[in-house]
Amino acid sequence: MSDSVYSGPERVFSGVQPSGRLHLGNYLGALVKFVALQATHDCMFCVVDLHAITQPQDPKALADQTREIAAAYLAAGVDPKRAIVFPQSAVSAHAELGWIFNCVARMGWLERMTQFKDKSGKDRERSSVGLFDYPVLQAADILAYRATHVPVGEDQKQHLELSRDIADRFNREFNAPGFFPLPEPLITGPGARVMSLRDGSKKMSKSDPSDQSRINLLDSADEIANKIKRATTDPHPLPEAEDGLKDRPEVENLVGIYAAMSGRPVASVLGEWGGAGFGKFKPALADLLVERLGPVTAEMRRLMGDPAEVDRVLKYGAARAAAIAAPIMAEVRAVVGFWRG
Ligand code: TRP
Repeated sequence: MSDSVYSGPERVFSGVQPSGRLHLGNYLGALVKFVALQATHDCMFCVVDLHAITQPQDPKALADQTREIAAAYLAAGVDPKRAIVFPQSAVSAHAELGWIFNCVARMGWLERMTQFKDKSGKDRERSSVGLFDYPVLQAADILAYRATHVPVGEDQKQHLELSRDIADRFNREFNAPGFFPLPEPLITGPGARVMSLRDGSKKMSKSDPSDQSRINLLDSADEIANKIKRATTDPHPLPEAEDGLKDRPEVENLVGIYAAMSGRPVASVLGEWGGAGFGKFKPALADLLVERLGPVTAEMRRLMGDPAEVDRVLKYGAARAAAIAAPIMAEVRAVVGFWRG
């Protein structure tokens, strides 16, 4: 390649870990975006099981968890003929390029990663080496396909910067200008950030001990209605305009969810609901959630009852992914200078 900057085609890559249940935050922050992107871009949506095992997983459950994430992609509207849906471990290029990138990335770069600090906590010495190395594998996920755009949440911004640093250093070190693109994050705007139903200062999270804090994609209509009813609010009515949401994070969150689920701007939701009490707003929000999520939940359950169908999709996706990675990896091996018989 003679260009000093990457000039190949655009490609979108993103991944979700097969650990724990998906919730409304994942749905609005990731799945809905994936569905929109597949209309305009070549997309790859991966279930990152190699990343999952950086922390202990039950080997008997892992494959089903992988199918469950794939089912969620499909139920949300990802079209597996258009986008490529596949399990990370089914394509060996991830691990292979991950190793090469281990030799490109610097210890100091990884030591700055805040997610490792958060996940390892006080137990750094007992963390797996894989957990420390997690963002290097993430760079390999993206660059094994020369993906240029990566839809992720705000919390992944630092990992994406590391991916760019690795791509740039590889290109320089091996004197291969423009070999890898420097992948750009497509960050989920703060508006689409879904917070805990119990505490508006915390993200909705699968690791929150209280199930009341989140709407799971597999929750029933009754569970959804109950969780919204019990969601933390304050005694005041809804504000008439957006500046009235300041310092009312729980209220802002519920209004934000309503706006996202109805596809309307927050201002328009407040135009309709400003002055109303939560006794009126909460049932309307619950109805909206049930109406929008109901079909997704039903399709997810159907797919989870038909693992053979999900497996066909994953196998097809893995074959397409492998076919994209193979020629890129052949070039990587040549650039690095590995033996070729
Ligand atoms: N680290 C990402 C997360 O926790 C998951 C992930 C793994 C990913 N590999 C990726 C996201 C590649 C985007 C691109 O959300």
